[in-house]
Amino acid sequence: MFNEVKSAMQKPTRKYTYREVDESEVISALEDLFVIRPQTLRNICKHFVDELTLGLKEDGHTLKMIPSYVANRPTGKETGSYLALDLGGTNFRVCEVYLEGDSKVRLTQKKFSIPDYAKCGQSDVLFDFLAESVLAFITENNIPTESDIPLGFTFSFPVKQTAIDKGYLINWTKGFDCKDTINKDVVELLNEALARKNVKVHVSALVNDTVGTLMSHAYNDPGTMVGVILGTGTNAAYVEKVSAIPKWEGGPVESGEMIINCEWGAFDNERVVLPFNKYDQMMDEGSNNKGEQTFEKMISGLYLGEIVRQVIVELIQRRVLFGGISSPEIETPYKFETAYMSRIERDHTSDLIDTKMVLQELLNIPYPAPRDRRIVRRICELVGTRAARLAAVGVAAVVTKMNRVDSGCTVAIDGSVYEHYPHFANRMKDALHELLGMFEENVSLQLGKDGSSVGAGVIAALA
Ligand code: BGC
Repeated sequence: MFNEVKSAMQKPTRKYTYREVDESEVISALEDLFVIRPQTLRNICKHFVDELTLGLKEDGHTLKMIPSYVANRPTGKETGSYLALDLGGTNFRVCEVYLEGDSKVRLTQKKFSIPDYAKCGQSDVLFDFLAESVLAFITENNIPTESDIPLGFTFSFPVKQTAIDKGYLINWTKGFDCKDTINKDVVELLNEALARKNVKVHVSALVNDTVGTLMSHAYNDPGTMVGVILGTGTNAAYVEKVSAIPKWEGGPVESGEMIINCEWGAFDNERVVLPFNKYDQMMDEGSNNKGEQTFEKMISGLYLGEIVRQVIVELIQRRVLFGGISSPEIETPYKFETAYMSRIERDHTSDLIDTKMVLQELLNIPYPAPRDRRIVRRICELVGTRAARLAAVGVAAVVTKMNRVDSGCTVAIDGSVYEHYPHFANRMKDALHELLGMFEENVSLQLGKDGSSVGAGVIAALA
C-alpha cells in the first residue's frame, strides 16, 4: 500500500494522474455511509433499551450493567477534605476535593500524562507510577498524612465491583493494555503500590468516572439521575431501582436504589444495529481491542480522528483527494487527532484557511486545494455528527429505561468531546428531539465539569 502512495514532497507534475471526481459525488457517497436517519436512530434506541434490561438480569451480556455499590445520592451537605485519583482518559489527575457542605466544592489538582510504557507494560509499573504521583501531589501541597487520608479512586475501565472498595478488572479499553491486571482487584494493586512507596493514604472507594460525574452533579442538583462521559472513551451510569436488578446479590439496600455503570461502550459488539461501515472496520482492525467497544469506537475522542484519517487515506489512494499525493503523517495511525476535527469544524472562513493550515502544517499535505478542504471539512462534519447522534441514542435509551421521559431528569455530561467539539451538544439535542419528540425538553443535558474527580471525593465522603 505504502509503495503506491507518492511522497509528500513530490509535486503533482502530470495532471492526468488526478481524477477530478465531482465534489458532490464524493460527498454524497460518504453521506450514504455516515448519515443516520431518524428511523434508524429509533431502531437502535429500541435495541439499546432491550440490552440495558438484559444486562441487569445476569452477567455475561454485552452491556455489563455493573452495580456500583453507590446506593445513596448526596444531599449537598457532606463536608470534608478528600483525595481523589482519576485514571481513565488521556491524562491522569490527583486532586484534593474540599466539600464545603452547601453544595459548594473546591478543587486543587495536578495533571500527569501517562507514559506509553506504563499504559501497556506490567501492572506494577502503572500502579507505581500512580502511587508516585500521589506522593508528589501530597508533598507539593503539604498535605498531612498522619491520619491515613481516605482516597476515592476513579478507575474508568470495566471492573466487576464486589464492594465499594473492591473491583476486579474485566478488560482494558482506550488503548491501555497491561495484561497482568486482568481479573485483579485494582484497589489492592493501588494499596500495595502506595505501601511500596510508603504513602499513608488508603483507598476508601472505587469509582467509575460516569458514577463520579453523576454524584458530583447531584451534589448541587438533586434532579441528576444520569452521568455520561463523552471524552477519550464513552459510557453512562444512572440511578436504578434495586428491584429492577435481578442479578443483584448484595443484600437489602435501604434506599432501594443503586447506581448502575452501564459500560455502554460495548453496545452492539455483535454489530447488528449500528451502521458500522468499511471505514469503522478499518479503524477497528488497527486498534488493540478489535471487535470490542463498538459503540465507543463510533463516538469517542480516541477514535473519531482515526476514522476521518481512514476516509482521507482511502480517497488519496483512489486519487480523489490531494491529487493522489499523500504524506507520512496522514499515513500514520492516530496522527489525525479528534482535536483537528474540532478545529476544522470551527473554520468558517470562506476559503477554509484554518483547514488548510491543519492539512499543510500538521499533516504535511502540500497542496490542499479549496475543493479538497471542503471535502475534508464535510468528512469531519459527517463523522462528528454521527457521533453526537449516537450519543443521543444512548441517553434516550437510558432515560426510557428509567421511565423518566415524562417526568424528566438532569443528565450530567463530562468529557473533552462534549465540552470542546463544536456543535456536539446541539446535534445531540436535535437527535433527542427526533427520538423523544416534545419530551426532549424534559431531558436536561448539563456540562458536569471535573465530575469524575469531584465525584470520587463525594463518594469517599459517603463511604
Ligand atoms: C470505559 C468506561 C469509562 C469510559 C469513559 C470506557 O472505555 O470502559 O469504564 O467510563 O471509557 O471514560
